Amino acid sequence: MRLSANELSRFGEELGAQLTAPAVIGLSGELGTGKTTLVQAICRGLGARARATSPTYALVHHYDAGATPVYHVDCYRLRQPDEARDLGFDDMVREGAIILIEWPERAGAWAPALDRHFQLSYDTDPARRVVDETAVV
Ligand SMILES: Nc1ncnc2c1ncn2[C@@H]1O[C@H](COP(=O)(O)OP(=O)(O)OP(=O)(O)O)[C@@H](O)[C@H]1O
Ligand SMILES: [Mg+2]
Repeated sequence: MRLSANELSRFGEELGAQLTAPAVIGLSGELGTGKTTLVQAICRGLGARARATSPTYALVHHYDAGATPVYHVDCYRLRQPDEARDLGFDDMVREGAIILIEWPERAGAWAPALDRHFQLSYDTDPARRVVDETAVV
């Protein structure tokens, strides 16, 4: 798909509205391709409300969609996969949360198994982004 910013938002909102917990979604792609924009749209679709973010874990943003916990984890700043050990993925999975992970590949084996994986990239049109869903193993 080649999506404008509005289309990408709508895509994320529709995806969020259809998501049921537990679910793990990975978002990969170069800087500025729209991963965070897509996460925020998914959260809107879920009707998620932001919870306080612990300063210790600035990489983890916590939301609630009704009774369902929703986590947005950005692994970009991890220097090595081992640093993901303390992000609390095990607890999130145990809670049956919806987990949205930017740069899941940077967490290596510490990232939970993805149910869906989206790859974002630049289009020749600077106002569009290419969004592909890739197969998960
Ligand atoms: N079609 C589009 N879809 C999404 N974002 C777009 C589009 N066109 C332009 N943009 C712009 O691209 C930027 C995407 O930023 P965003 O933070 O979502 O990317 P990111 O992939 O999360 O980057 P990072 O890797 O730095 O976290 C925003 O400034 C947005 O306005
Ligand atoms: Mg981002």
